[in-house]
Amino acid sequence: MDEAAIRAGRGPFAGQPGQLDAPFWSTPPELVEQMLDLAGLRPEDRLIDLGCGDGRIVLAAARRGAQALGVDVDPQRVAEARSAAAREGLGRLATFRQEDLFETSLEEATVVTLYLIGYVNRLLEKRLRSRLHPGCRVVSHAFGIGSWQPERTVETPERRRLYLWVVPSAPYSNSR
Ligand SMILES: C[S@@+](CC[C@H](N)C(=O)[O-])C[C@H]1O[C@@H](n2cnc3c(N)ncnc32)[C@H](O)[C@@H]1O
Repeated sequence: MDEAAIRAGRGPFAGQPGQLDAPFWSTPPELVEQMLDLAGLRPEDRLIDLGCGDGRIVLAAARRGAQALGVDVDPQRVAEARSAAAREGLGRLATFRQEDLFETSLEEATVVTLYLIGYVNRLLEKRLRSRLHPGCRVVSHAFGIGSWQPERTVETPERRRLYLWVVPSAPYSNSR
């Protein structure tokens, strides 16, 4: 999907504070840990949470010793996340930026986490598949990513779904 199609899909004000592409819902703490387990997060990983909310996934990754970045377009969420990182003394590993997730540079990530909504994931599919390095793991809470077939799908006893993808070494060639 090209940039014009993404802009059309998101609408004219997307990416500005107050114009969320996905609402603020939080992943429950035990599910955060399951997402990191599913990703096989290690201390040498660099995680990015696109749409980080209060920063809980980033903070959990930092507690496990990984570098982690959270981006959120909502300044209130970013302020909350930064305060939590400071309270826990995680500021060296956990960083947060107020940023439109469609603008986030993904090339450094070895793990990407998502809890957005289905159509936003679909708009992100090409970006994720073409910019992430081979071997990067992507874990999404609740929603698939367009036509990308997950390697694993986990259903929790509470009937929540987690999906895992691992970026293959073959370059992504779909031009949609
Ligand atoms: C469902 S919440 C997920 C929060 C967190 N990742 C979690 O799992 O608990 C989605 C978050 O995405 C943020 N968001 C929505 N549109 C965004 C955009 N275009 N750029 C950055 N963040 C965005 C919202 O402010 C919200 O905090």
